[in-house]
Amino acid sequence: MTWMVTGGAGYIGSHVLRAFVTAGVPAVAVDDLSTGRAHFVPDGVPLVRGTILDADLLARTIDEHDIVGVVHTAGFKYAGVSVDRPLHTYEQNIEGTRRLLAVMSEHGVDKMVFSSSAAVYGTPDADLVTEATSKNPASPYGESKLVAEWLLAALGRASDLRHTSLRYFNVVGSAYDDVYDASPHNLVPLVLKALTDGQTPRIFGSDYNTPDGTCVRDYIHVGDLAAAHVAAAESLAAGRELQPAYNLGSGEGMSVAQIMQSIRRVSGVDFEPEVHDRRPGDPDRIVASGDTAARDLGWTMSYTVEEMMASAWRAWQAALAATP
Ligand code: UFG
Repeated sequence: MTWMVTGGAGYIGSHVLRAFVTAGVPAVAVDDLSTGRAHFVPDGVPLVRGTILDADLLARTIDEHDIVGVVHTAGFKYAGVSVDRPLHTYEQNIEGTRRLLAVMSEHGVDKMVFSSSAAVYGTPDADLVTEATSKNPASPYGESKLVAEWLLAALGRASDLRHTSLRYFNVVGSAYDDVYDASPHNLVPLVLKALTDGQTPRIFGSDYNTPDGTCVRDYIHVGDLAAAHVAAAESLAAGRELQPAYNLGSGEGMSVAQIMQSIRRVSGVDFEPEVHDRRPGDPDRIVASGDTAARDLGWTMSYTVEEMMASAWRAWQAALAATP
């Protein structure tokens, strides 16, 4: 009854693995360690080192570990960078998913929980994004996630595959002090890095059409996100019907300036962010309803935004302390 977690050594995948361990569900990590870290994989969970583009490695892993389902978090996740690296993004996120599905299909593995993204919506035309909001991805990354969702749906119609896609909004925090978000492109790790490097955190634009002029996003804790994956996997294993996709959002928006204030409070570092020009392509506001996921997956927000920032800060400090 073992689940395979692709990208299992990543920030999100390793949280999913740990949630599986806590739930008593056996799991195996597959990761090429291009951005993941082997030490994020929990003790007792095998790490198979390799890419999801390697069909033989996937087939061997499925056979050797008697895999019954896959949580597919591996992928190239930097929306901004994907604009300059479209072919790489499509190869990793579309071709990688296609190959994985093909091997699963050949080996009778009929359950998949897929890491999708808010990026499928682009700049939404709704104050509160629901799963029915129109999809207008604004980057190769967003397109690749949407196409991968279509691959799952198409194979689901053509075969016994049972699947769901979880569309993440802004994932932050750490549920374990030894796992942290090392993304060089996202707000929270960039602010934490600036603070520990003695630099000034930057706000990209303060003239947006929002209450304080800075962009508003929907922040969710990675521990809650991981629990939703396990709930989805267990639902598929129990034969329950799931929707093709769920938004994992909180329904609440926080501005960049509010996030900065929260980080100031939890870190105890007094700083005044510098306001810079807008970052190209950033929409004013993205906030999503997680109601459907709450109904079907027991999705809840068990952490406040302050706790999200405090946990991110703790894990960041622990990582610094562990670095020789
Ligand atoms: N920001 C700053 N300063 C920084 C870094 C970011 O002000 O140093 C701002 C950004 O301009 C944006 C907000 O903080 O307004 C959040 O930026 P992130 O890069 O953390 O997150 P995004 O909302 O841009 O992106 C997230 C995911 C993407 C996904 C996208 C979908 O990280 O993978 O949502 O909307 F594609």
